[in-house]
Amino acid sequence: MATAAKVGSNFTGVQMSPKDTKRLLEAVNEIHPDVPGDERGMLVERTERSAEAGRIGSVPVPGSAKGMLKTGFDMMKGKSPEVFLDKLGERLAFERNGVRLYEAMIAKARSLDAGSELVGMLQHLRDEEFEHMLLVRQAIESLGADPTAQTPCADVAGVMAMGIMQVLTDPRTNLAQCMNALLTAELADNAAWELLIELAQAAGHPNIADSFVKAKTQEDDHLVKIKTLMRRDLVMQTR
Ligand SMILES: [Fe+2]
Repeated sequence: MATAAKVGSNFTGVQMSPKDTKRLLEAVNEIHPDVPGDERGMLVERTERSAEAGRIGSVPVPGSAKGMLKTGFDMMKGKSPEVFLDKLGERLAFERNGVRLYEAMIAKARSLDAGSELVGMLQHLRDEEFEHMLLVRQAIESLGADPTAQTPCADVAGVMAMGIMQVLTDPRTNLAQCMNALLTAELADNAAWELLIELAQAAGHPNIADSFVKAKTQEDDHLVKIKTLMRRDLVMQTR
């Protein structure tokens, strides 16, 4: 993998210039922010804004007329079926984005000549994320719902993934930094599958829960692979 860090001319730390540090600390006391107020003002503003704001989208009504006509339709059960449907929408968005993250990582690995073994492994992980996406789509359809609808949690998942995608597509980042970004995604992915299986069971859909177990097992493997790659690369450099 590409070197994680190099020594260079970095002037961001205060130790680079103790004389300027003293002046900087003096300036903090003399120059005040040009915007009045403090953190209490921000708290008031945030409270007011959240009282005014609506929600982030809504969950479409489950069991559409078209969906109901499908064979093998699994009636929505449980007290709040929309909670399960919202999380299914989230998983669908996350897995679809997972494919894109791995595509970006493959491009990064290729551009840095990281070797065919790593590229092959990344392609395998990407293909499994794609399989998971199809699996969730199938589950949503079996409930008579529309997998193309963006649920509120799907929207939030998309926003959360933006930082990870930025790291992966930044031309300056190296493989170790990108692996770290992928680790963030895989940790969240792993925990989310665990929760989704539990939700499927609680919502009265044991068949869906069973179908998700394979995905969770594969996600366990993704986590081990990304953690191992990161550790091997960084520990070797640190020794
Ligand atoms: Fe994964």
